[in-house]
Amino acid sequence: MSIKTIETKPYADQKPGTSGLRKRVTVWQQPNYVENYIQSIFDVLEDRQGKTLVIGGDGRFYNDVAIQKAIKIAAANGFGKVMVGQGGLLSTPAASHLIRHYKAFGGLVLSASHNPGGPDGDFGIKYNIANGGPAPESITEAVFARSKVIGAYRIADVPDVDLSRIGTQKSGDMVVEVVDPVADYAALMETLFDFKAISSLFKSGFRMQFDAMHAVTGPYAHRIIEDILGAPKGTVINGVPSPDFGGGHPDPNLVYAKDLYDLLMSADGPDFGAASDGDGDRNLIIGKNRFVTPSDSLAILAANAPLAPAYAAGIAGIARSMPTSSAADRVAEKLGIEMHETPTGWKFFGNLLDAGRVTVCGEESAGTGSNHVREKDGVWAVLLWLNIIAARKQSVDQIVREHWKTYGRNYYTRHDFEEVDAAIANKLVDDLRAQLPGLVGKSFGNLKVSYADDFSYTDPIDGSVSPKQGIRIGFEDGSRIVLRLSGTGTVGATLRLYVERYEPADGQHDLETQAALEPLIALAEQLAGIKARTGRQAPDVIT
Ligand code: G6P
Ligand code: ZN
Repeated sequence: MSIKTIETKPYADQKPGTSGLRKRVTVWQQPNYVENYIQSIFDVLEDRQGKTLVIGGDGRFYNDVAIQKAIKIAAANGFGKVMVGQGGLLSTPAASHLIRHYKAFGGLVLSASHNPGGPDGDFGIKYNIANGGPAPESITEAVFARSKVIGAYRIADVPDVDLSRIGTQKSGDMVVEVVDPVADYAALMETLFDFKAISSLFKSGFRMQFDAMHAVTGPYAHRIIEDILGAPKGTVINGVPSPDFGGGHPDPNLVYAKDLYDLLMSADGPDFGAASDGDGDRNLIIGKNRFVTPSDSLAILAANAPLAPAYAAGIAGIARSMPTSSAADRVAEKLGIEMHETPTGWKFFGNLLDAGRVTVCGEESAGTGSNHVREKDGVWAVLLWLNIIAARKQSVDQIVREHWKTYGRNYYTRHDFEEVDAAIANKLVDDLRAQLPGLVGKSFGNLKVSYADDFSYTDPIDGSVSPKQGIRIGFEDGSRIVLRLSGTGTVGATLRLYVERYEPADGQHDLETQAALEPLIALAEQLAGIKARTGRQAPDVIT
C-alpha cells in the first residue's frame, strides 16, 4: 500500500467541546482541516497498531466525504481493521455498542448531534475510547495540544471503499467491514426489554408516533418498533435520514418537535409520542396530554427500571449532570442507592458506569441511558418507557402523577440565550461568580440562599478534578438557580439559565411551569442581568 505523508499547517481552533469538535461545515471544508484533526487524534493514541476502529455517523452533509478520509488515514496509521456502518451510518449509541461488543480499540463518531445539517449547517467528529464512551478530558486536551503543532498527516493512497455493500473489503492493507447499522443494536435491545409485553401492548391497540426527525434513528425505529415489535406501519415518521434533516433542526424539544407535541395534546392523538435527535442519543417523551421533562423522565425511568428484565435485580445508583433537576435524587434517597452529580457531558458518567457505581444516568438536555452502552441512548429510553407502560398498564400521565405523589414534583425550566457576544457572556458569568461569596445566608423575599458556588467535580474513581462547571445558587426550600455557558455551541456563546423549585408529595402539582418558576426567574435576572446586558427581550429557546 502506498502511504503518503502530507505536510500541513496547524489550525488554532480544534478544541473539542462538551462532545467532540463541532464546527460549521465550511470550517471543516478548509484544506486539511479534517485530516489534521483525525491525525491529531491518532497521534495521541498509543498501541493502535493492528487494532479495530469503529467509524459511523449520523448521515449529515459531509459525512460521506469525511468518512472516506477517516478510513484512509486509519489505514495509513496502522489500524488493522475499520468497522463501519452501511452507508456510513451508525447512531451514536449503536457505535458505542459496536465498540464494546467487538472489543474495538475505539471509534470515530461523525456527528454534530442535534445541530442543523447541510452545507451551511454543522459537522463534528468525536473520538470514543474502548469502553464505548466519549474520550475523557485527558485525551481531548492532548488532541487539542497536538492539533496546535501538527506538521504532517499520513493517508493511504487508495480508492474510496464502497459503503453501500455489506461485507469485507480492503483499504490498502487494512480490512474494512461494512456492517448493518441496526442488527447488533436491535439484538442488544431485545436482551434488555420485555419485547413480548411491548408487542402485546401494540396488539391491544396502543397507538404511538415516533418522529425520527429525518435523522439517524429512522432505520432503527422502523426495524425495532415496527418490524420487530409490531407497531403499525406509519408509527415512525420522518424515518429516512437526510443530509440536511429535511431542512429541519434535529433537536427533539418542544420548539423543533412542536408538531409532535400538538398531536399528543389533540383530542384524537395517539397514546404515546417520542422523538430522537440527529445522531440518536437524545429523546423526547410525550404522553397523551402529558409532556415529560427530561429530568422527570430520568427519575421515573430510574424508579421503574426493575420492570424491565435487564434491571430486574435493581439498579446500583443514579447519576445526573449538575443542571439536571434533583428529581432523581429523591428516588435514589428512597431506594437507598448512590446518587452522583457530575458536570454537563456524558463523558463524566463513564468512570461511574465502568466501576458499577451507577446503572442509570441522565441529563436535562434530553439524554438518558444506562450501563448497556457508554453513550446516552434515545431509542433505549423510548423502549424502557414502553416496557414500563406495558408492565404498569397505565398511561404516561398516570405514571407521572403517581411519581409526583410519591416523591414530590420538581418544577423545572431552562432558558437559552443563543449566539450571544462571547465577551459579554463571559463577563456576565464572571461578575455573577464574584457575587457568590456574599450571597450565602441572604434572603430574597421568602427565598434564603443556602449555598452559592461554581461547581467543581472530583471524579470519585480517578480523582481528576473539573473546576468551573457552572454557577449554582441553592435555596433552603430546595429551589435552585444555575447559570452556565454551553460547551456545544458553534457561534458566539450560548447562556443557559436553569431554574428549579420543589413541591412536596402533598404539594401543588398542577401549576403552569413558567408561572410556578416566575419569582426565581426574576431573581436570576436581578442577580445576573442576562436580558439587561445582552439586550435580549426573551430567551431563544425555553425547554
Ligand atoms: C450534548 C452532550 C450532553 C450535554 C448537551 C448540552 O448533547 O452530549 O452531554 O448535556 O450536549 O451541552 P451544553 O454544554 O451545550 O449545555
Ligand atoms: Zn445527539
